[in-house]
Amino acid sequence: MCGIVAYAGPRPAAEVLIDGLKRLEYRGYDSAGIAVVVEGGPVSCVKSAGKVNALERLLRENTPELMEAAGCGIAHTRWATHGEPSDVNAHPHSDEKGKFYIVHNGIIDNYQTLRKRLAEQGCVFRSSTDSEVIAHLIARFYQGDLPRAVAAAVRQLSGTYGIAVVSPLHPGMIVAARKGSPLVIGLGEKENIAASDLAAILPSTRNVMYLNDGDLAVMTADSVEVRNFENMPIERETTRVEWSADAAEKGNYPHFMLKEIFEQPETVENAIRGRIDHEMKSALLSGLNLTPRELAEIGRIVIAGCGSSMHAGLVGEYFFEDLAGIPTEVEQAAEFRYRNPIIEPRTLVIPISQSGETADTIAAVREATAKGALVAALCNVVGSTVAREAGRGVYLHAGPEISVASTKAFTSQVTVLLLLALLFGRNRRMDRTDGARLIAEIEALPDMIRKVLEQVPEIERIAKRYAHCNDFFFIGRGPLYPAALEGALKLKEISYIHAEGYHAAELKHGPIALLDPAHPVVALANNIPGRDKMLGNIQECRARKAPVIALVTEGDAEAEALAGDVIRIPECSRYAAALPTVAALQLLAYYIAAERGCEIDQPRNLAKSVTVE
Ligand code: AGP
Repeated sequence: MCGIVAYAGPRPAAEVLIDGLKRLEYRGYDSAGIAVVVEGGPVSCVKSAGKVNALERLLRENTPELMEAAGCGIAHTRWATHGEPSDVNAHPHSDEKGKFYIVHNGIIDNYQTLRKRLAEQGCVFRSSTDSEVIAHLIARFYQGDLPRAVAAAVRQLSGTYGIAVVSPLHPGMIVAARKGSPLVIGLGEKENIAASDLAAILPSTRNVMYLNDGDLAVMTADSVEVRNFENMPIERETTRVEWSADAAEKGNYPHFMLKEIFEQPETVENAIRGRIDHEMKSALLSGLNLTPRELAEIGRIVIAGCGSSMHAGLVGEYFFEDLAGIPTEVEQAAEFRYRNPIIEPRTLVIPISQSGETADTIAAVREATAKGALVAALCNVVGSTVAREAGRGVYLHAGPEISVASTKAFTSQVTVLLLLALLFGRNRRMDRTDGARLIAEIEALPDMIRKVLEQVPEIERIAKRYAHCNDFFFIGRGPLYPAALEGALKLKEISYIHAEGYHAAELKHGPIALLDPAHPVVALANNIPGRDKMLGNIQECRARKAPVIALVTEGDAEAEALAGDVIRIPECSRYAAALPTVAALQLLAYYIAAERGCEIDQPRNLAKSVTVE
């Protein structure tokens, strides 16, 4: 997804902007650019297809003085949606006279109509992007007041946008506006920095202000004023982000993904911390803001998410039905938003989204809300759109997840779903004894993951043995069926190997036709209900000469004897099994991708947060 950084303050703006863009690179992009209004001088705009490093070299070689100049500026990394990656399509874009420069995240749905109308008025378009219309609109509406011109321009737009605007007519001023694409403002000492993502702000300040849809901010070095698009002032609270700047850095790991895999014992602990009621043998989830009576009135749960978040929801479905007896279904968020879902008054909709900015999941929240559902979100990013529009829910507290492949967010999502099942269960037929037993399982989760992480040498050895293969099956049953889906997704998205997750019982209904010695099967045969059937599936695969990598409960000699390669998972119930098992699958995928020399943190074609449909 695209990234935005805007800076007003005493430091050289170009330096701050380039550093900010580098911290957003993980979001995935194909071109970058900056525009700086130098005090008393013209606007300098430099942009190019390619990486931020190439842009920085261009700046230092061609306009070295700009890297030292004080002033205010905007910057952008572009993930192409309209118009191929190129210098001319890179942001910032300006009007013909170079009086207004803009950077934009999102998609302008009515840009063709606007472009036609503006061209008829004499506008000269240089790019094939939707975003450029914004600069020309501002120029058309400008009558001496930049914020008002920006407000008038955005009122013409339909679609989604987060924008930042500078003009040589207003040195030192940045105007930002958002609708459907995140913008957050960092409030520093005699400087302010706006960005689409905290990672660009944390090195400067941890005091932040999240803009809501319909907000327009006027930002200078000394002040930030928020208005609506009708120019009426709005109060927005300031929050303090506890994530340190280095939390968004790689540390001494070769990739963010490996760092985040190893963070999981701690992040699962963070998801649990303060949320166990040892007195009532239940969970404390105040963010739900629901009374016991309101909890008891929940008659059905619908979970909506995408990708790994959807897979976490599929694990949660087992929890809610087994432990709380609440009918539960999981919907791919895009499917949910377009299928006219049945929502009764007692339906609880749980959107799950690490970023809280996934377009389809935001739309699912709005659809559920419009139909009168109770909505409680599971998000990692505090203040994100899904979190704020749901109005209630549970934060993951997993810290910034930088690698495009989701790892620690997944295990924290499953942990929170288990806490929710404990709360719902104890609010229904689960007695104190069963509640205490489940609490013991939940509190043991971090150590279960630690035990798996100790097996890195063995997992790396297995990964190297199979790294040359081009097709994998991942099979599981019960809560390990979604774990199989997640394992397949991890492998395919970072190693580009074709991998499919299947319910193990599905093999004989077709997929088994593909098995041969070049088609490894990863079988999740932990000692939970369904294990015996899994051993049968392993034998089916071996009979077709397919290599089998079995994940088995430590000490299960019978299961070990059947498989070619074995990864041992600590003894645990079916409710806990997905966490250590998926942690092992994350490592397997990581080391296979590393062996293949893949670009692990920023896989081709992928973005960390899919903020467009
Ligand atoms: C998972 O590894 C992928 N990066 C992707 O499937 C991701 O889970 C999905 O895009 C949902 O993102 P979200 O949790 O931020 O909504």
